[in-house]
Amino acid sequence: MANPDPRTALIDRLPKAELHLHIEGSLEPEMLFDLAKRNGVTIPFASATEVRAAYSFSNLQDFLDIYYQGMSVLLTEQDFFDLTWAYLVRAHTDNVRHVEIFFDPQGHTQRGVGFTTVLNGIEAALKRAESELGITYRLIMCFLRHLPEEDAFATLALAEPHLPRIHGVGLDSSELGHPPSKFERVFARARELGLHVTAHAGEEGPPDYVWEALDLLKVERIDHGNRALEDPALVARIAAEALTLTVCPLSNLRLCVIPEIALSPVRRMLDAGLKVTINSDDPAYFGGYVNDNFHAVAQALDLSPEQIAELARNSFTGSFLPPAEQAPHLAAIAEALHG
Ligand code: ADE
Ligand code: ZN
Repeated sequence: MANPDPRTALIDRLPKAELHLHIEGSLEPEMLFDLAKRNGVTIPFASATEVRAAYSFSNLQDFLDIYYQGMSVLLTEQDFFDLTWAYLVRAHTDNVRHVEIFFDPQGHTQRGVGFTTVLNGIEAALKRAESELGITYRLIMCFLRHLPEEDAFATLALAEPHLPRIHGVGLDSSELGHPPSKFERVFARARELGLHVTAHAGEEGPPDYVWEALDLLKVERIDHGNRALEDPALVARIAAEALTLTVCPLSNLRLCVIPEIALSPVRRMLDAGLKVTINSDDPAYFGGYVNDNFHAVAQALDLSPEQIAELARNSFTGSFLPPAEQAPHLAAIAEALHG
């Protein structure tokens, strides 16, 4: 038998942070079924296999339609706890040591589920993972960009009494036709409140949307950022400011942002000196957790062990952890690379 690729073992043992993960996108078909049954919610599928077969997307909107439908089974604090705990246990097997999790409160409050029900359930699982699995966390509340900015303001108002428990805001959902400029005021308010700010930009949207995220929303990170590569001045700006890009290779493939994994922008971003990270986005829908994403790009782009370690380092230096808390992880990465 041929020797296994040593990069596989390196990826598996490297400590890593996941910075781009929608907790609702970690709802596996089996749990979708269990929760539908527990809560008496009707779903238009007869089996988990049938659900998986429906996960064929030609663009972001195709996926989002199914993703919002999937959320309908999440009703109680226990549901949000179970969802989040299952993700954290799975992430732990990939050696994920820190997570910065997105959640979509409007996807739930619109259905009559209370903001605190969602927050309490997710947070209880995060706290348990911190004490039992040693995974640290930050929680990022996303605004749905297909909805008006007033709805985002109303969501921020719901969050305000709980602010020490929420660390940042993000912007997600249908990108085309909903530029960052639409959310300039609510992001200004979030920054005033001391929240971290990040936004999906350049997944399907043009480089202009990435410029707007930087100049108008004043984001600290860019989620995806693929199309930034079309604009050399933008690439220079992102490199000069050492901004982190949270790229999601298998998501890009499944949403037809790229036609094949070999065309993932990860290597071009590394070559351009950009601080790129690898993430799973919505792993239950896109066929892989964070290590699966690392394996896919390492093989297709023939990344070196040093480049793989750089991606892991970037996940910590691009996180919202203070430098003193990043340091032990960076030392562990050096140890995993050379040890
Ligand atoms: N919500 C969940 N996943 C998303 C993605 N990849 N892009 C935009 N919104 C999302
Ligand atoms: Zn995303």
